[in-house]
Amino acid sequence: MLKLGILISGRGSNLMALHQHIQTGGLKAQICIVISNNADAPGLAWAQKQGLNAMAVLRPDFSSKAEYEHKLLELLKQNHVELVVLAGYMAILGKPFIQAFRNRIINIHPSLLPAFRGLHPQRQALAAGVKVSGLTVHFVDEGVDTGPIILQQIVPVLDGDTEETLSERILKEEHTCYAQAIEMFAKKTALGADERT
Ligand code: GAR
Repeated sequence: MLKLGILISGRGSNLMALHQHIQTGGLKAQICIVISNNADAPGLAWAQKQGLNAMAVLRPDFSSKAEYEHKLLELLKQNHVELVVLAGYMAILGKPFIQAFRNRIINIHPSLLPAFRGLHPQRQALAAGVKVSGLTVHFVDEGVDTGPIILQQIVPVLDGDTEETLSERILKEEHTCYAQAIEMFAKKTALGADERT
């Protein structure tokens, strides 16, 4: 059973969807730890209510990013995490962290990368006037929203879409695609698997 460590910052709907897929047997994995970098994240309160091993680890409580991420690594390793899943984790991971879990960190981003990296990708898509957008699940490397792509799903942009309506349409797909990508990782069919140690 693939052991997951899930990092969140906010709402946590992807975390909830993954939990649901695991509960119903659709995803053969185990959530070993949930870490939020935001004490007020609704996803954190939800995870604790579910009885998941969930905690806030806050950057300001540490004197440097390196020390903060060292703590994250310690917790992930103590919990025997095999795959780190970023689920709306809104911070850039440092090199030592990425090296420690090379090809074992994945992220979901609400655009068809390499288009619309960074913040507000749905707003960027609307501003660009594209007729399709979507989501990308990818391995995390040292860049921002770069790294080998595991899967992508196209989502149409409709006339009259606002950032909210487009985000909702993409999010609905995120909730099935993230589990699918984790299943691919577990079955070692995800691109980049050859490089895994
Ligand atoms: C999701 O749409 C996710 O793709 C996005 O944040 C949202 C988190 O929602 N992530 C990024 O933009 C990362 N660059 P959630 O907290 O409800 O899962």
